[in-house]
Amino acid sequence: MENVEEFYDQLSSSYSDLIRKCVPRYDELLNNMFLYLNADFKPLRILDLGCGTGNLTQKIIEHFPDTQIDALDLSEDILEECKKRFANKSNINYIQADFKTMHLPAAEYDLVMSSIAIHHVEDPFKLELYKNVYQSLKKGGIFIFADQTRGITDDIYFKNIDCWKEGAFKLGSTEENWKMWMEHQDAHDHHSPIGWHLDNLKNAGFEEVDLLSKYLMWAICWAKKH
Ligand SMILES: C[S@@+](CC[C@H](N)C(=O)[O-])C[C@H]1O[C@@H](n2cnc3c(N)ncnc32)[C@H](O)[C@@H]1O
Repeated sequence: MENVEEFYDQLSSSYSDLIRKCVPRYDELLNNMFLYLNADFKPLRILDLGCGTGNLTQKIIEHFPDTQIDALDLSEDILEECKKRFANKSNINYIQADFKTMHLPAAEYDLVMSSIAIHHVEDPFKLELYKNVYQSLKKGGIFIFADQTRGITDDIYFKNIDCWKEGAFKLGSTEENWKMWMEHQDAHDHHSPIGWHLDNLKNAGFEEVDLLSKYLMWAICWAKKH
């Protein structure tokens, strides 16, 4: 089995199509990440962690067309797809890096966002990432991420997976697609319960932490630096 980088390298050209057939209410999830930002919030610099082919980056551009955006991903090939997609934009800076180990610049960002990416690292690295994001935000800066979570019991978790499968097939996923996602999940995914995320965002220093929404296993978390 390939590692996470190789998996997304291989998937790069088909990713945008496959993810829309895989995640129920995917666009709604991405749109809801912006719901709680005040109209007068005008970020100067935004980081998209695990940008993939740029589906969240696209929404960021729609909300903040003139803002400087750093689009970061581990996979060189998927980052290339993102570059091609936004070739006509001059306000996007592409960074190939591993958010498990990289050190983000201090007090640089007004907003850090991430969709369906953080679950690729184990819990101790998630906590380190939350600390890293905290120090990279300016005072008043906001971290919003959407991700897959684990249920507090196995029953809840596996019910969510069953509902996900049903939803993915309705969206057009095939048995082969589902097998590929499940093999990837078993090898690389580290889902944590929502309570774990909220506690560890606080442990990382965030003064204001909340769960903005949750549908099946997909949650949106908010964390603000005062
Ligand atoms: C499921 S995709 C999500 C992409 C995009 N955010 C979206 O919503 O469509 C996960 C992305 O996270 C990236 N990723 C996984 N682990 C990473 C890491 N440790 N550092 C940087 N990027 C990572 C993968 O390469 C992949 O592009």
